[in-house]
Amino acid sequence: MSSKVLELSVDYGEATIIRDEDSSNPVAVRFDHVRKTYKLYKNDRQRLLAAFSKRIHCDEINASDDLTFTCRRGEALAFLGDNGAGKSTALKMITGVCFPTSGTIEVHGRVSALLELSAGFDMRLSGMENVRMRCQLWGLSAEEAEELIPEIVDFSELGKYIEQPMRTYSSGMRARLGFAFASSIKPDILVVDEALSVGDRKFSAKCRKRVNEIIAKENVTVLFVTHSTGQAKEFCTRGIVLDHGKTMFEGSIDDAVAYYENT
Ligand SMILES: Nc1ncnc2c1ncn2[C@@H]1O[C@H](COP(=O)(O)OP(=O)(O)OP(=O)(O)O)[C@@H](O)[C@H]1O
Ligand SMILES: [Mg+2]
Repeated sequence: MSSKVLELSVDYGEATIIRDEDSSNPVAVRFDHVRKTYKLYKNDRQRLLAAFSKRIHCDEINASDDLTFTCRRGEALAFLGDNGAGKSTALKMITGVCFPTSGTIEVHGRVSALLELSAGFDMRLSGMENVRMRCQLWGLSAEEAEELIPEIVDFSELGKYIEQPMRTYSSGMRARLGFAFASSIKPDILVVDEALSVGDRKFSAKCRKRVNEIIAKENVTVLFVTHSTGQAKEFCTRGIVLDHGKTMFEGSIDDAVAYYENT
């Protein structure tokens, strides 16, 4: 893999994000008093006006509320909680899709996300062209990409379609290619959000097996969101139960599942 090291520390007002590619740091991800507040306006007009006037009213919701936890290198950590508990928001802040309002987030290592698997593809390009482009964005050298691409294509099971424009793919086919890429690039930190139901039953079983293999690998850190407590137990050693953005429980996966199922 590329030896390029990216270090980034950014202050967003009351929030700080520290990112580097130091996979030898015993801490993979740390949240310290992280809050993510969304502003809810009555309509888009009010949202626009709010940029110019402080008098426009809005409701606020804390999707993450004083979230503090540490995920150590090599750990597999599950987030449990009902709809709207703030699980995806936490993962999105790790991948950088959204930013905290306050608090500090540290991420040490290269992150690959099984989040919105179909997002970010250029539909005019073929699957193969998209994969090549992603390899470049991920910072792989030409040789590394050439080695990895057959594995990605093979896993996606797209056959001849890999050379067709992606607009001709079904949504399941797009998600399959997204999963094949995100799970093949050997990340330091893997973030998985309910992605394991990709494609049909057979493909979904194959995805589960792949995630299991990645977790079994030494030093890959996994943060995993699912509504299936069975899957959480299958993949993870520790669990955090969220409710309205707050941590309600943190402990071993068995205790976390028991807490979640009894509340
Ligand atoms: N872009 C947004 N704008 C406003 N509110 C948002 C936005 N994204 C999420 N929220 C709110 O933040 C809260 C947490 O949402 P989040 O998607 O993190 O929940 P979740 O635990 O992943 O739920 P689910 O199990 O349904 O996937 C919810 O109340 C949701 O409505
Ligand atoms: Mg979610």
